[in-house]
Amino acid sequence: MLSEEKNRLLTEVGPDKPMGQYLRRYWHPIAGTSEFDDQAVKPVRILGEDLVLYKDLSGNYGLVDRHCPHRNADMSFGFVEKCGLRCSYHGWQYEASGQCIHQPFEEVADPSARMRKNTAIKAYPVQEKAGLLWAYMGPQPAPLLPDWELFHAKNGFAQAVFAEIPCNWFQCQENSIDPVHFEWTHNNWTTRLAGEEGPYVPTHQKLAFDEFEHGFIYRRLRGSETEDNVMWTTGRVTLWPNGFFLGHHFEWRVPIDDTHTLSVLWVFSLVPSEQGDYVQDKIPSWYGPVRDADGRWITSHVANQDFAVWVGQGPITDRTREKLGQSDKGIVQMRRRFFEDIEAMQAGEEPKGLIRDPAKNHCVPLPSACASEVASGLTRAELDAHPLLGPYLRDFFGQAGQPRAVTEAYERAIGQKVRGATFFKVHGSGAEAAAGQAATEAAASAAPAMPAVPGR
Ligand code: FES
Ligand SMILES: [Fe+2]
Repeated sequence: MLSEEKNRLLTEVGPDKPMGQYLRRYWHPIAGTSEFDDQAVKPVRILGEDLVLYKDLSGNYGLVDRHCPHRNADMSFGFVEKCGLRCSYHGWQYEASGQCIHQPFEEVADPSARMRKNTAIKAYPVQEKAGLLWAYMGPQPAPLLPDWELFHAKNGFAQAVFAEIPCNWFQCQENSIDPVHFEWTHNNWTTRLAGEEGPYVPTHQKLAFDEFEHGFIYRRLRGSETEDNVMWTTGRVTLWPNGFFLGHHFEWRVPIDDTHTLSVLWVFSLVPSEQGDYVQDKIPSWYGPVRDADGRWITSHVANQDFAVWVGQGPITDRTREKLGQSDKGIVQMRRRFFEDIEAMQAGEEPKGLIRDPAKNHCVPLPSACASEVASGLTRAELDAHPLLGPYLRDFFGQAGQPRAVTEAYERAIGQKVRGATFFKVHGSGAEAAAGQAATEAAASAAPAMPAVPGR
């Protein structure tokens, strides 16, 4: 349980709030590069600020204020030039740094262009990495954008998957240090959604939470699992400050504002080694729906099950009303680290986990339960039998709504059809979605029995 004041400290992300200032010290993924294949300008809202993300005619990205400093025209109606973005109202043009570089009439009226030199739009740096566009909205000097090892993995098909979730980011991130929810939100709920009353998977027996440089590691044992299980020897990474790393994929919960979160999944699916040296020419990105055509929450896919429970906790969950147990030890540790680190930042210290040394920012490894498989690759049969990586051959179970073009690109990569793909009817009724899940479970039955939905 927390006081209202402490709950606000964790959840408020505006530029004048402590957590808002803290999160601005980190790079955040805000869009997919493939979104700019057929558009140049996109309005975005990040950390409570309305902004415009663009790709100019030279291929450079920029992120500027939604409104022009001249008379507040909407810069999302602007058009890109060789250098930067031009307002479509009176033609003022801004480079990526925010500096105004052209004021057509003002420069006729005053060839010394004094006014232009003194005009700038709010602007933030943008970098491209791993098919994602990342923004940094904090004070300079910016830290380095982390170069995670998985971004360098070979012979795989990566995709970036987004969704807008109507609730506060922190309850989403608490899910990154909540091992017991897998058993209920993903395994047992899936069984019930499929119309079965059981059996339920074995319950958790033991949990451990340890802090490290880039976040926390949680470890768990379920049923009769023993301490040589990879979920105990390696565990999972609660990636600081708002991510989750599961060996073959990342998740980030990027605050849009206090009551909305951009969910970002970056998923790497191994391609069978029979396909030779597979090189992906482009990482696709897509946005999935969170509700079906009838307005009901989609619960057929892993991330959608998470979204439903997070939103169910309320727009900003009321932590004065919670009752924490032993399973929440990691959540308590994580909150404490945020409180302490925010205080340290206010005292002028460096926030946790920032990377500033270029020599340390190449292929940065994180603990991974499938590191050797990702590094050395798997044959089709090995992949098919792998409990964590194999289910992708049967369906993209991560999140509902994968576009057909992405499914087909993946099928070309792996050299076979995705067997379960047609089972999911995202825009169908809840019953259809549940049936789809059941069908996929049936298709996945060759995989080890636990977990029913591929466990994380
Ligand atoms: S409002 Fe943008 S140039 Fe006038
Ligand atoms: Fe989950």
